[in-house]
Amino acid sequence: MGLKKNTITKETKIPRHVAIIMDGNGRWAKKRLMPRSFGHKQGMERMIGLMERAFDLGVEYITVYALSTENLKRPQEELNGLFDLFRNHFQEYMSRVCARGVRLRAVGDVSLLPDDVQKILRQSEEDTAQFVGKGINVAVAYGARDEIVHAVNRAVECGEKVTEESFSRLLYTGEVPDPDLIIRTGKEVRLSNFLLYQAAYAELYFSEKMFPDFSDKELDKAIVEYSRRTRRFGKTDEQITEKK
Ligand code: FPP
Repeated sequence: MGLKKNTITKETKIPRHVAIIMDGNGRWAKKRLMPRSFGHKQGMERMIGLMERAFDLGVEYITVYALSTENLKRPQEELNGLFDLFRNHFQEYMSRVCARGVRLRAVGDVSLLPDDVQKILRQSEEDTAQFVGKGINVAVAYGARDEIVHAVNRAVECGEKVTEESFSRLLYTGEVPDPDLIIRTGKEVRLSNFLLYQAAYAELYFSEKMFPDFSDKELDKAIVEYSRRTRRFGKTDEQITEKK
């Protein structure tokens, strides 16, 4: 019974865009008396597995919070470990997922990253620029407030009044539709400066699992829970039922 409850079926509504805050890599490693960098490596590998599962299920867009503007204030040793992950594994892992016709975009103030890491991200963007329909946003050196301020400045430069839609296109996430489901692992229950504008009507799902332990089954569970929720977008239940 428990198993069935969390099983994806033909009736399950699959979110078009899933965004993930991958929290708990450090704690996961600490519990195993391993360095934080080991947790991040496990986290990156787990993320690739989750992306594959999500695309198999019919998800079209995935946004992953890989590095926040605040994370850039972490000790240099940890940052070097994270940048080394990008240098040594990012292209290999991502090309595996992108080979399914997925376009990769780096969202954030990429100029804050070391030159060679910027180059890796730009190269991955170029290599996948021809793909339409499915996408991965890697949020690096990303902060939602920074993104909003950046978009406001772009709007001011253009000298035109913005609408909700045109403003949304000025954000780092550009044309990508808003997330339907935002998942955060690692027991914390907050958004931590992630997609604050885009999250207006996203369903939020918080997991107690540390990110490396967030299995494909856990993703299925989150999607089943999402599918059970009624998204009213500010309307009444009756209005939603009439539309059906
Ligand atoms: C949160 O765990 C994770 C990070 C700050 C970095 C995660 C980034 C990567 C693994 C590299 C990029 C990955 C992809 C898929 C592009 P934490 O260190 O905050 O964990 P803690 O809260 O337990 O300390």
